[in-house]
Amino acid sequence: MTYLGIDIGTSGVKALLIDADGKALGDASAPAVEPVRPQPGWSEQNPADWWEATLGAVDRLKQSHPAELAAVKGIGLSGHMHGATVLGENDAVLRPCILWNDGRSVAECGEMEAALPSLRQLAGNIAMPGFTAPKIAWIRKHEPEIYRQIKKVLLPKAYIRLLLTGEHVEEMSDAAGTLWLDVARRDWSDDLLGVTGLNRGHMPRLVEGSAPAAQLKPDLAARWGMDGAVIVAGGAGDNAAAACGIGAIRPGEGFVSLGTSGVLFVSNEKFSPNTAGAVHAFCHAIPDTWHQMGVSLSATDSLNWLSRITGRKQAELAGEAEARFQGPGEAIFLPYLSGERTPHNNALARGSFTGLSQSTDIAQLAQAVMEGVTFAMRDCQRVLADAGTRIDHLLAVGGGSKSLLWLKMLATNLDMEIALPEDGDFGGALGAARLGLCAATGADPLQVMSRPPIKAIIAPDTKLSAAYSDQYARYRALYPAIEEARS
Ligand code: XUL
Repeated sequence: MTYLGIDIGTSGVKALLIDADGKALGDASAPAVEPVRPQPGWSEQNPADWWEATLGAVDRLKQSHPAELAAVKGIGLSGHMHGATVLGENDAVLRPCILWNDGRSVAECGEMEAALPSLRQLAGNIAMPGFTAPKIAWIRKHEPEIYRQIKKVLLPKAYIRLLLTGEHVEEMSDAAGTLWLDVARRDWSDDLLGVTGLNRGHMPRLVEGSAPAAQLKPDLAARWGMDGAVIVAGGAGDNAAAACGIGAIRPGEGFVSLGTSGVLFVSNEKFSPNTAGAVHAFCHAIPDTWHQMGVSLSATDSLNWLSRITGRKQAELAGEAEARFQGPGEAIFLPYLSGERTPHNNALARGSFTGLSQSTDIAQLAQAVMEGVTFAMRDCQRVLADAGTRIDHLLAVGGGSKSLLWLKMLATNLDMEIALPEDGDFGGALGAARLGLCAATGADPLQVMSRPPIKAIIAPDTKLSAAYSDQYARYRALYPAIEEARS
């Protein structure tokens, strides 16, 4: 018997097979169509493209691993969080999905908090434009003819589940990022739904991430050569899924992710909100467990931007920065290209470079970008600490963790060791596959979500600590100064 994890990422879909012992057997990917930005600060994707990429990735697995794919008994889904996929009659998609890194609904966030003063307490989170509910409030105001037709609102992976199974089902970790969930009680909140004029009828049924959600449609099972009932698990939002993939499920265990967004994630034994620091307090993907995270919207996406405008590949930029590195540079970069969540909660913030001179070259700009993202993670650690949260273990995940220099900057600035898993995929797709295994077999998630073998422990470079603390103080001073000058 085998299990399949499907991770619906902003930049592509990855499908990964594991065996009954959780060992990876093979994977395949299909790229996604880049998000469209119809206006600055907006970000949309067409749900049909996710589906095409999902079919593409699993079809590729069928070619490379036909027997292993045919033996699948459980599927888990992981997906980029918060996107508002609005469905009308017969589950027709009414407009492109407004994504997690879209900042258009700033005004609606203020209006929602004014309409329900207990919103932060109930949701455990600030109304931020990245979350789902404010996007619906925006549609209600600006596209009333679409709003009137809404029958269901699904997150990206729940939409893929609908196409896989025919059922509307969501799980707690992703549902917590909608602002419609009573996160402490792990149930939809009528009061929170009411703020956007919706009710439980607009919501999918809720299950735990490690529990069965529905069954794969027979025609898809036949397409992939699978026999008998194939269970589709609740799965997880991509961050909780990554935590399942690297075994960060006990209190104090966490990870730092350098993906499109940057995330500092830690598991908690109880619901632990800290709205003052724009900390995200969500349910974890396994029962009776919660987590907190700080989210910075443009991590590798910042290097991606530099890569686009310089015509150099991201790895090349990181490599040049590493080859030339001699300690903190003069240039400082604020990575707020899509606004920022933690700690500023300011969708209208913008990025900037300061400290440029005639001799600044592309390698130094790349170093500044990597440092700016590192400081954003240091900000996240600071507000998690303000909430009384202790992080005992940190693993590094995401594309940016391929850069040793970036990991060294992180370890030095967070002042803690960072474990780097051995090569292999320990991200969302593995976590999703593990959740699929739990749902299909009833296995205990605590047994299944083991930690990966570690390739290296990156220790802080204490020779650079003081210089980085000075640089971080300058970085922190820049945001209020630049914001004041911009307004
Ligand atoms: C988390 C968030 C991002 C997306 C990216 O709150 O918005 O990490 O899930 O995939």
